[in-house]
Amino acid sequence: MSVPEDPPGITRKTLLKAAVATGLAAPLVVASGAFAKDAAADESRGEPVAAGPNGPRAITPACQDGDAPTIDQIEGPYFKPDSPERSVLATPSTPGTPLTVTGVVYGLSCLPIAAALLDFWQADDGGDYDMTGFNFRGHQYTDVNGNFALTTIVPGLYPGRTKHIHVKVQAPNQPILTTQLYFPGVPQNDTDSIFDARLLMDVTQQGAGEAATFEFVLNVDQDPGGGSPPPGAGWLAGHAYNTGDTVTYDGKTYICLQPHTSQVGWEPPNAPSLWQAQ
Ligand SMILES: [Fe+2]
Repeated sequence: MSVPEDPPGITRKTLLKAAVATGLAAPLVVASGAFAKDAAADESRGEPVAAGPNGPRAITPACQDGDAPTIDQIEGPYFKPDSPERSVLATPSTPGTPLTVTGVVYGLSCLPIAAALLDFWQADDGGDYDMTGFNFRGHQYTDVNGNFALTTIVPGLYPGRTKHIHVKVQAPNQPILTTQLYFPGVPQNDTDSIFDARLLMDVTQQGAGEAATFEFVLNVDQDPGGGSPPPGAGWLAGHAYNTGDTVTYDGKTYICLQPHTSQVGWEPPNAPSLWQAQ
């Protein structure tokens, strides 16, 4: 698999991020359970790529039209289904280095995916997984702009592995991506056969803790659309709707409550934060 490089200049994603930064970010509630165990993911493994201890930043996945999606990695033996829905896995008194992980989930056209499910699990500060309870396990959904945010600690090391966070990511009604996220500058990155520099997060110091970012690109086709359809037209996936737009769906009329790009899985009846029945 080729390794995408960041091109100079403004990318589509950069523009999208700028737009998102000024947009509304009300949470979108779509009822769905946590992931069931994904046995097939046990067989998948990313192709390890050698990298120095500081792992070149340029190969962090960058979303551009036509780019390869985020690579998958082995699930490992410590996944547990039915994690609680939560984005905060640690409190200020939790042992370890505080860590926030934020980012966006995109599809292949670099449009953000709302209501994507992310299920995180990781080791504690001592490198142990909680196999009896759900410490350091939780799932959450992206907001209307595809954003997620995780509050946790930097996972500890355990034999044979560098520091990593496991995650499953799934757009509504799409296949599950099982992968892992890594930290630059960890010496064990060079000796961990599963480590892949394409999955390095951007990490900066933030007070006594660390702030990491990562942008997922899911293997989900998206229609970039050509702007808003005529008012009153039937609802369509992949269109950029604006506040006040009206659509019909299942014979009912809905009015758009906030700008967003529509996706399969969050049709008007399923997305009350986006569409209000008339
Ligand atoms: Fe692990």
